[in-house]
Amino acid sequence: MRKPFIAGNWKMYKTPAETKVFFKQLLPLIEKTDIEVGICPPFIDLETAINMAKESSIGIGAQDVYWEEEGAFTGEVSPSMLFSIGCRYCIVGHSERRQYFGETDETVNKKVKALLKHQITPIVCVGESLEQREQGVTEKVCATQIKQGLQGLTPQEAEKIVIAYEPIWAIGTGKTASAEDAQETIKYIRSVLAECFGESPAQKIRIQYGGSVKPGNIKELMAQPDIDGALVGGASLKAEDFAAIINYNKK
Ligand code: PGA
Repeated sequence: MRKPFIAGNWKMYKTPAETKVFFKQLLPLIEKTDIEVGICPPFIDLETAINMAKESSIGIGAQDVYWEEEGAFTGEVSPSMLFSIGCRYCIVGHSERRQYFGETDETVNKKVKALLKHQITPIVCVGESLEQREQGVTEKVCATQIKQGLQGLTPQEAEKIVIAYEPIWAIGTGKTASAEDAQETIKYIRSVLAECFGESPAQKIRIQYGGSVKPGNIKELMAQPDIDGALVGGASLKAEDFAAIINYNKK
């Protein structure tokens, strides 16, 4: 059985002071839950978030990383630095990084390998643009991103990663893929993982859906057999909304 995993991606929002306020609001709202919960704030908020979450089961993650150990790489942060402060996760290959910051499947691959060396769980994002969806190449795009992004991993390593399927046209737009469409693509992604790493590891890898996830649509998404969680952007910024998403199966 795959443990459900819901993670928040704060993108470039919130100061450390706002991070404190968020956790003070969130923690009392979370009901006892057997799902895994993560929050990925900006680098500057990581230590505050880790401190605020330490009495809870919420894990904290980064939104990006550089693959080198240390060195003259102005502006970058290494996996060992993230590990040293207690980061558990790191988002890799988010479509915004691919679009605005030159992230490629090759750099995704280097980052995934570097994170695994330091026991940080990579959350690897894949997904098609609206144009690609209209051209009918969704599966091809996702397969390439998976095969190249995870190239060279052993099945044991692959089992440790999390995939987030995020159709770009659904991110921040209010347009969610229907639960059935998301299921269909995620099922296909699992078949690509089986092709790369074998059926048993593919059955263990958790695949999240991301793109306009809200309290109102989480239940339906989580009811799909291959959807193991969600990567939540906008709705993870408000404690009430994020708590309602985490508590999706309590109502
Ligand atoms: P959204 O973002 O929930 O605001 O659509 C999701 C993401 O980009 O991870």
